[in-house]
Amino acid sequence: DKGGFPHFMLKEIHEQPSVSAVIQHRYAVEALIAESIDVDFRHVDRLRLIACGTSYYACMVAKRWFAEVAGIAADVELGSEYRYAPDITNPPREFAVLVSQSGETADTLASLEKLKSQRIGTLGIVNQQVSTLAREADYFLPLLAGPEIGVASTKAFTAQLMVLAHLAAHMAEQRGYRLAATRFRSALAKVPKLLSAVLHNEAAIIAVAERFSQATSALFVGRGALYPLALEGALKMKEISYIHAEGYAAGELKHGPIALVDENTPVVALAPSGELFAKVASNIREIAARNGRITILGDRRAILAMSDVASHALTMPITDELIQPIVAAIPLQFLAYHVAVSRGYDVDRPRNLAKSVTVE
Ligand code: M6R
Repeated sequence: DKGGFPHFMLKEIHEQPSVSAVIQHRYAVEALIAESIDVDFRHVDRLRLIACGTSYYACMVAKRWFAEVAGIAADVELGSEYRYAPDITNPPREFAVLVSQSGETADTLASLEKLKSQRIGTLGIVNQQVSTLAREADYFLPLLAGPEIGVASTKAFTAQLMVLAHLAAHMAEQRGYRLAATRFRSALAKVPKLLSAVLHNEAAIIAVAERFSQATSALFVGRGALYPLALEGALKMKEISYIHAEGYAAGELKHGPIALVDENTPVVALAPSGELFAKVASNIREIAARNGRITILGDRRAILAMSDVASHALTMPITDELIQPIVAAIPLQFLAYHVAVSRGYDVDRPRNLAKSVTVE
């Protein structure tokens, strides 16, 4: 049942405010973490975050939260790489977090087996509660996003971010970073409302989507915690609109990809106000100097500051920087969706892709 929406993907995009509210209130995620994960994170030296695709980008965001909020280093690994990675002798005290919507992704499951053989503790964060990852990991946290039917992952991504964020707050608390935990939690409490606010900008995004519908190639750039969102925005665009899209760390442009920039290549610059704004702004100006067609994804203040070079904008509310990656997800999902619809593609079932990748 598409609930009156033309596609499951659109329905699932619109469900994100309620899913994030469920995670915080009904499911009281931190109480569940404290109850069900019997690990003292004061004795963990390093986290290993493992996933594929969009779930991998959620881990990339979380790596920054674990460092910034809980003072704990994390390595992020693709399931397909970690499963064949060499083992190290005398590894630090590690704990692994495996993230998956389906819980059946073959490479993530093979990584789980490898971790188990090394006797590293594992937590599965999974949407499908009846799944191999949920069953086989030492600990398990559900996403409670409800069934995700569209092949493009949307609500599972923001649910993963919410659960990983609360996991970081839990670790911060345990490790004595009380203030950081409190600040993070109060920012997270605002997420459901902020997500509802971004949903209201859909009409404006349809207008922006038009400039992509004839493109053959697009670039997404961001820095810091928004760099993974640039990768995610590009992945969404590729998978459902079949436009070649690359996500890049904005500071890397001058090391090669800026050669791609011309007046036919739309560039989405993720640049809300914040510590790195001035840095991204200068990268945006480099793109503008090469006649790039820039769409800025930012809050009103940032959009105003870049109005001389960015003719189009995707608006998000002003928020605490820590939660910007969660809020920025929705405009990127809408953009890919509306570009794909305008090109006439079946967004729920893109070519060559399966919802659950159960083969290597
Ligand atoms: O079920 P999983 O989260 O393990 O799936 C991982 C990827 O296959 C998945 O996120 C894929 O990249 C999505 N189709 C992206 O929208």
